[in-house]
Amino acid sequence: MQTETHNRNWETLKAECLACTRCALSETRTQVVFGVGNPESEVLLIGEGPGQEEDIRGEPFVGRAGQLLDVMLASVGIKRENIYIANIVKCRPPNNRDPLNIEQDACIGWLREQTKLMRPKIIVCLGRVAAMKIIKPDYKITSEHGQWIEKSGFWMTAFYHPAFLLRDPRHKPDTFSDMKSLESKMREICTKTLPD
Ligand code: URA
Ligand code: SF4
Repeated sequence: MQTETHNRNWETLKAECLACTRCALSETRTQVVFGVGNPESEVLLIGEGPGQEEDIRGEPFVGRAGQLLDVMLASVGIKRENIYIANIVKCRPPNNRDPLNIEQDACIGWLREQTKLMRPKIIVCLGRVAAMKIIKPDYKITSEHGQWIEKSGFWMTAFYHPAFLLRDPRHKPDTFSDMKSLESKMREICTKTLPD
């Protein structure tokens, strides 16, 4: 019963979001990238916005950065289909520029609705843009990545963005240890979304 209501609300939200024209990114997108994975998961990952590959395929993190993300998640036994992955803005910013504040503010309501329905226990921001929007405006990814804070009933952290790791692989070991800490946090507080 609970699940049916949940699914109906989720599907309604998704249908509304796929038709969204709340900001100008709707004019240049191929399609809205709503999110991927299991909406009943206890773990939510939040990126910045779709890139070219995501805009074409309609799924978050499927380009080169996404492939690196999958490898890093797999290193601690986490599969994409067992978590949920979404973005701050759901349409691609032209030329992969950072999403503007006005676009983030227009779009964040969709993510808030998704979060309200999911009720995840853990939220992981991928990169600076998501961390500044979700955790705090002055988030410093270099010094604060991988640290856990409890906020609004969620355990939150941020990792380096996988696209940044592709540009600067020296930081990969940091993210592998951050992944380990995600694995530990999941074993500590999750009841259904557990690493392999
Ligand atoms: N980068 C992001 O932040 N999100 C995606 O979905 C893909 C690349
Ligand atoms: Fe709507 Fe978000 Fe797309 Fe803007 S980026 S059109 S707010 S779904």
